[in-house]
Amino acid sequence: MFTAGTDTTSGTLEWAMAELLHNPRTLEKVQAELRSINPSKKIEENDIENLPYLQAVIKGTLRLHPPLPFLVPHNAKNSCKMLELACEVMDWPTSFLVCLVIFSSSVLFLFFRRRNSNPGKLPPGPPGWPIIGNMFDLGTMPHRTLTCLRDKYGPVIWLRLGTVNTMVLLSTKAATELFKNHDLSFAERNITEIMRAHDYHKSSLALAPYGSYWRVLRRLVTVDMLVNKRINETTCIRRKCVDDMLLWIEDEARKKQGDSHRDGIHVARFVFLLTFNLLGNLMLSRDLFDPDSKEGSELFMVMLRLMEWSGQGNIADFFPWLRWLDPQGLKRKMEKDLGKAIEIASKFVKEKLQQKKVGEDKRDFLDLLIEFEGNGKDEPAKLSDHELNIFILEIFLAGSETTSSTIEWAFAELLCNPDAMIKAKAELTRVVGPNKKVEERDIENLHYLHAVVKETFRLHPPLPFLIPRKAMQDTNFMGYHIPKNTQVFVNAWAIGRDPEVWDDPLLFKPERFIGSKIEYKGHHYELIPFGAGRRMCAGVALADRVLRLVLGSLLHHFDWELGGNVTKETIDMKDNLGVTMRKLEPLLAVPKKCKTSD
Ligand code: HEM
Repeated sequence: MFTAGTDTTSGTLEWAMAELLHNPRTLEKVQAELRSINPSKKIEENDIENLPYLQAVIKGTLRLHPPLPFLVPHNAKNSCKMLELACEVMDWPTSFLVCLVIFSSSVLFLFFRRRNSNPGKLPPGPPGWPIIGNMFDLGTMPHRTLTCLRDKYGPVIWLRLGTVNTMVLLSTKAATELFKNHDLSFAERNITEIMRAHDYHKSSLALAPYGSYWRVLRRLVTVDMLVNKRINETTCIRRKCVDDMLLWIEDEARKKQGDSHRDGIHVARFVFLLTFNLLGNLMLSRDLFDPDSKEGSELFMVMLRLMEWSGQGNIADFFPWLRWLDPQGLKRKMEKDLGKAIEIASKFVKEKLQQKKVGEDKRDFLDLLIEFEGNGKDEPAKLSDHELNIFILEIFLAGSETTSSTIEWAFAELLCNPDAMIKAKAELTRVVGPNKKVEERDIENLHYLHAVVKETFRLHPPLPFLIPRKAMQDTNFMGYHIPKNTQVFVNAWAIGRDPEVWDDPLLFKPERFIGSKIEYKGHHYELIPFGAGRRMCAGVALADRVLRLVLGSLLHHFDWELGGNVTKETIDMKDNLGVTMRKLEPLLAVPKKCKTSD
């Protein structure tokens, strides 16, 4: 019974899921029908009769992907005509009944399997479906959906996403427990399927297993590249990149004369280009967004695509036996584009080595990577070409969209909260002075601006689940037994709205940080946009400096209004979870050069 029931059912459900994820409108319809039954209750067997669309989905799936394409081969006992055989094929109600039997048997199978394989107590969580577990429960906005579950199940929740056991933390208290007392047990990453393309995960700092290779790269970034002393030495690079961005925006605003002027410009795009050139100069001493550089613009385009593939949910991550099939084609796309990106990065490295030979090069991060010499025992003697290339790409992936989406949210909030905008601009005029550029030395005195950045991070952390961790061993966490390899989501979005910690958690109020000691450098677990503990963001010092400089410069140089006939009452503040959590509707804003700016 089990043999007949489990594989056929799991296969059918997998195909149904694959088809639904390929056809989002159908998925929406099916979810709407399920919710129409009674949103606060579980679906019961007697509801099934009232779910015609769900039945149609199962029929459609069985039509396209019959689990036994040749049925179970029969031997003909007597000679017969095909038409008579056709009459033996089950009608829909009968086959639905068979499905139900198969379905319930697999429920029992999974129930017993789950109980037997997990002797300890797991955290509470919503009951899942057989095979697919809680995948349907998450919806398209998992950070929001999971936050809503906090009232019912508490701050530590257990989910089964296909075959992947997942623990979700939803409160400051739970995050404190993880980072303070169990950081080491959860210091590894969960590796997604597309990150295996070109063995990216083996050379990546962000995904490396907790061990000597990770330690070497982490030290290179946090001690040799991005300590404050080194960052201070590159002030002029940031100055140039910010000046370029302000000019691009002026040009764009000038081009949009007449009525289209009111449409505004997409601020985040310009910030993205700035970060790309900034990181390009720090890493490789070159502007990458440069109309005159073929490789630069090629790399730019290919990186955009890599981010798109990385931001899409991949069903093969939840059902390992689907990996070979790559149902959404994401791994294939990643192989192609990552291959291209590696090729371009390796060209840059070769050029650099050539320049070094003839003594023409400027010193940058790539020099530090090339010159690295490890002990050759527990750490590599040199970094391989592949490791160098992946490192370069990773810095762009980690630093560009996170920065631009934060600035976009800060702008959206300030334009919706004119009092905060007035205060931020007044402080800039007071501290920086009219007709002057915002300089890095001003930043420490711009307290309200700093509070705006913190408040933006509290409400809109660019990585709402940080970068998911993984349990390195069986761990007792807050009285629960967490098995080895459990994936861990720390929901920074929920923690920023934790009602036990924040007054008026849903309001944008930068004032809450004035006179407060709360920082986002990994010591205050109520505000963790950069994570915390051993695997905390390695670029936090640079990101912090860039964010305040760029936001301050944009606010001081221009006056801003909402564009595209949008008002603070009608603006759409919904978010969209891709590689970062961006604004679903890109923010369009109208810049007007300030009379007082230079
Ligand atoms: C607004 C900007 C940024 C945000 C919000 C951000 C956020 C994060 C987060 C949440 C993590 C995972 C932390 C954890 O698991 O506890 C992370 C990791 C990382 N970030 Fe950032 N990041 C930003 C900018 C940057 C920049 C500019 C760089 C490099 C130049 C960078 C490099 C990295 C690296 C290498 C890791 C992996 C660290 C490890 O696994 O040891 N990030 N970042």
